[in-house]
Amino acid sequence: MSQSVSIAVVGSGYVGLVAAACFAEIGHRVVCVDNDEAKVRMLREGGIPIHEEYLPELLNRHRENRVEFTSDLRKATQGAQAIFIAVGTPQSETGSADLSYVDAVASEIARSIDGYKVIVEKSTVPVYTNEWICRVIERNGVSREMFDVASNPEFLREGTAVTDFLHADRIVLGAETPRAAEVLGAIYEPLSSGEYYRSANAVPGPRTSDDPPPVLLTSTKAAEIIKHASNALLATKISFINVVANICESAGADVQEVAKGIGMDTRIGPKFLRAGIGYGGSCFPKDVAAFRHVAEQMGVEFGLLGEVEKINSEQRRRFFRKVRSALWTFRGKKIAVLGLAFKGGTDDIRESPAVDIVQWMLKEGATVTAYDPAAAARASEVLPAGPQMKYADDAYAAAQDADALLILNDWQEFAELDLKRLHYTLRYPIVVDGRNLYDPAKMAEMGFTYLSVGRPGISHTRDAAVGPRLV
Ligand code: UGA
Repeated sequence: MSQSVSIAVVGSGYVGLVAAACFAEIGHRVVCVDNDEAKVRMLREGGIPIHEEYLPELLNRHRENRVEFTSDLRKATQGAQAIFIAVGTPQSETGSADLSYVDAVASEIARSIDGYKVIVEKSTVPVYTNEWICRVIERNGVSREMFDVASNPEFLREGTAVTDFLHADRIVLGAETPRAAEVLGAIYEPLSSGEYYRSANAVPGPRTSDDPPPVLLTSTKAAEIIKHASNALLATKISFINVVANICESAGADVQEVAKGIGMDTRIGPKFLRAGIGYGGSCFPKDVAAFRHVAEQMGVEFGLLGEVEKINSEQRRRFFRKVRSALWTFRGKKIAVLGLAFKGGTDDIRESPAVDIVQWMLKEGATVTAYDPAAAARASEVLPAGPQMKYADDAYAAAQDADALLILNDWQEFAELDLKRLHYTLRYPIVVDGRNLYDPAKMAEMGFTYLSVGRPGISHTRDAAVGPRLV
């Protein structure tokens, strides 16, 4: 039977909140701290600030029992054996990670240390951060025997974060001392031993008691680099396939066939080879820039990552030009937009390609009616509703009398539209799909002019406005 560990999680954003709920789910006592009093109140009263599958169930299951919320960092950390730092590391003006929140939390932790603690970096941080945290704590008069700093990077995707946590590909534990490794090992024991998956209430997912997630024990620095390098490599895969898509588009080949052929090589793998309008979100853009900056500080030239970023920002512009050439001009056009979040399954609009594309269309005189199952409220903060910008309650309301429909993220429901209904709802049956959710031949058969990314454009009338050399 695994032992229960007392854990404090500092920060109740995507990472902190999911980690707190999942630690409670696997049997630990968790106190989640945030200095935003309103958020703490909301969480205590049963509110959930983010859209995340299984999170409401887990928090309801463990609130007031194994997980509690507070704004009192001192109280939370004093009773804890392990303190996870999960505060934001936003991008600074230079591209490097801004570690001021980490710095402030480390100083505060130092002032309340009353016994041995493992301080664990959960936020994505540059490689030297563990040493820095050590120095901050020591500077506050805490002796080296009273604490260790470890790194336990997260590999959670927004939307599926709970499943990614409980059914991880791997658990990376970066620690310098046996006692830090022991505390971390005990925390993840219910997962690594397979015990959790035997519980009748376990969140379903790919892991089982016979196939639990492997634990990789590394140095703290290696763990920090693993996180940055993983995100940078995933972003590189996406930019790579997007350039291949652009070649396919000019050559008249289908990038999905090409991606399938590449991905069947087990050394490459089929995942993260979906061409589209590029990556967004709170992680890839920030982490690619931060990793490049770290490399620079280490005296290493990582120009490849600069190219990855360049390709990514060009990809959404290219899509925008594609829409414009299909419509001739945006002025006076009514455009339906499906998807505002940076991907399906989330309400997060940070660095969303969809938001950029809508802004550019509005600037060129289009009227936009958008629908996103979860992100409309957040989007309306940067794209306020008005005469030019409207929000609809479903895909068909957005499409009503529109000159074209754009698909900008990959919610499952966007891939399951009633195409007949869509056809008679639109003013012109033009669909420009930035996520390749439909089969071009089927769309042509249904009477649509259908453009996507890295696949030959198809029109049922074969008019001159669409074709492989559109852009
Ligand atoms: C990403 C990583 O996948 C997680 O492992 C990591 O923990 C997380 O960042 C983080 O550092 O916190 P996330 O940003 O939630 O997770 O989203 P992804 O599902 O990875 O998608 C990122 C972007 O890439 C989205 O805009 C998505 O639409 C795009 N994407 C993804 C593609 O364009 N093509 C693909 O094949 C895959």
